Amino acid sequence: MAENIKILISEEDVDRRIEELGRQISEDYAGKQVHLICILKGGVFFMCELAKRISIPVSLDFMSVGSYGDGTASSGIVKIAKDLDEALEGKEVIVVEDIIDSGRTLYYLLDVLKKRGPKSMKLCTLLDKPERRQKDVKVDYVGFEIPDEFVVGYGLDYAQRYRNLPYIGVVEGIE
Ligand code: IMP
Ligand code: MG
Repeated sequence: MAENIKILISEEDVDRRIEELGRQISEDYAGKQVHLICILKGGVFFMCELAKRISIPVSLDFMSVGSYGDGTASSGIVKIAKDLDEALEGKEVIVVEDIIDSGRTLYYLLDVLKKRGPKSMKLCTLLDKPERRQKDVKVDYVGFEIPDEFVVGYGLDYAQRYRNLPYIGVVEGIE
């Protein structure tokens, strides 16, 4: 495989933006504790960096989801492969995602999580591709809006690779 990665958002720009988001969340929730929910695997790099920049008390939990079907056309039905360890009741929850694309995954997931009785629930995503949206999902914190291109790095993969890149790049040379 001879893919080439073109840098879309540099490591410095990603880090600076995450610092801003951390500061904003710390201000918005001043005097409270936030419960961050990481959507695995893509959200993990972003969540760790974001959590480090939040100055109020933080707790963490992890969840892994996948779509049913062959994965080419998302059915909109999401299967929970690994559920949260802790209850959400009374917590100030922020769901942390790598990217919102069609919005199907989060549309379903937020509905499921809301029923668990959090005190509040917001959505924070590193990247947003608004052009691709099929389901109306309200995003509260966005790192960057990006055009409709397939990106990797900072948790995002192409066939499970490139998650560890410290910047956001576009894979060139895929069909
Ligand atoms: P959706 O919003 O339900 O369409 O799905 C979003 C999920 O699709 C993300 O959590 C990613 O796992 C994956 N995804 C969408 N766009 C990209 C991309 O550009 N690169 C890598 N993964 C992507
Ligand atoms: Mg994902």
